[in-house]
Amino acid sequence: MTFRTALCDLIGIDHPIVQSGMGGVAGPDLVAEVSGAGGLGVLAGLNVPPDDLRRMIRRVRELTARPFGVNLWLHTALRPPVDVATIAEATVRAVQGTLNGFRERLGLAPTVGRPPAAPDLIDAAFRVILEERVPVWSIGLGDPGPAMVRECRSRGIKVMAMVATVEDARTLAASGVDIVVAQGSEAGGHRSTWVKRASAEAASVGTMALVPQIVDAVRVPVVAAGGIADGRGLVAALALGASGILLGTRFVATRESAAAEFWKKSLLERDSDETTVTDAFTGLYARALQNTFSRDYTASGAPVLPPLVQRSAANDVYLAALKRADGEYYPMWSGQSVGLIHDLPGAAEVVAAIMREARAVLAALSDRGGRPS
Ligand SMILES: Cc1cc2nc3c(=O)[nH]c(=O)nc-3n(C[C@H](O)[C@H](O)[C@H](O)COP(=O)(O)O)c2cc1C
Repeated sequence: MTFRTALCDLIGIDHPIVQSGMGGVAGPDLVAEVSGAGGLGVLAGLNVPPDDLRRMIRRVRELTARPFGVNLWLHTALRPPVDVATIAEATVRAVQGTLNGFRERLGLAPTVGRPPAAPDLIDAAFRVILEERVPVWSIGLGDPGPAMVRECRSRGIKVMAMVATVEDARTLAASGVDIVVAQGSEAGGHRSTWVKRASAEAASVGTMALVPQIVDAVRVPVVAAGGIADGRGLVAALALGASGILLGTRFVATRESAAAEFWKKSLLERDSDETTVTDAFTGLYARALQNTFSRDYTASGAPVLPPLVQRSAANDVYLAALKRADGEYYPMWSGQSVGLIHDLPGAAEVVAAIMREARAVLAALSDRGGRPS
């Protein structure tokens, strides 16, 4: 059983396994390891200046000749970034007041002013992707629209974009993307919508219910994401009609991931009911391990600044936490699959193990002749 799917044929990979282009986690080492093992490694392009992105792409090519991708966010609040001058003074004061409580605990000086805007890097990063003719452009939190897709197509670049609702999947299909990633609400990291929804519960359909609906709604290959960490998940996703799986959390806990060691250790220790969906870390809804920051911010009743401005406001807190290896004040993105993760292998071993387990699962199902156990 080879598990060669339409996704494999479309992008020239051996196994239908995609590693998410996770911001701050997926550097050239992780990407090359996954692609070298026959999956699709995806480089994180979020907040990476264009010259650095070009260097990272070239580094992947030094490490592997296999196909790989580069991920960008296209959220409407980033192109262009939200103008911080439009934020009410009282809102800034309330947010900084709560953050100052955290700063005091971490030995940081208080801050009262407006935070800087998020960097405006996406269009320059897209030019780099086109110039470097990266095999796959992967998009989170956004619709590229037909014009950007056409620019990719004319250079032989495949476009893969992620959604959390059936309606958004239809919009992506109309834009002409080659692959749709269906992100179930179990997923770690940010909810993949391009406009911030009204609450943490909006656009939060579980993988099991979302994937077959998106498979029915679009004609291109669909990749299932959210809550998948092993070969059982791969077989289940294929049974739902998906052409492959995309994993984030599982790849954070690998030797080649650039995540901090305290974060990897927490993934080994925490259970699936210890994640939360909150906008307190960045201003957009995202699933992370619950910690003192997420709990105390919510309890403070402070408002949340606009998308990504919240992140700039709290950045000094995150950097201080990183420096002292303190997971209580740092966004440790994680999906509900965290309870399935008990080891810290190399990323190539993750790919091999998923394929091994998937073959065993299928063999066990057919041995039973379809009878329930
Ligand atoms: C640490 C982390 C960072 C992420 N960063 C990004 C990102 O930069 N761009 C993106 O499109 N998706 C990102 N995601 C979301 C994943 O693409 C994907 O939807 C999710 O990881 C799938 O669920 P899982 O974590 O249960 O495997 C991130 C996920 C995690 C866990």
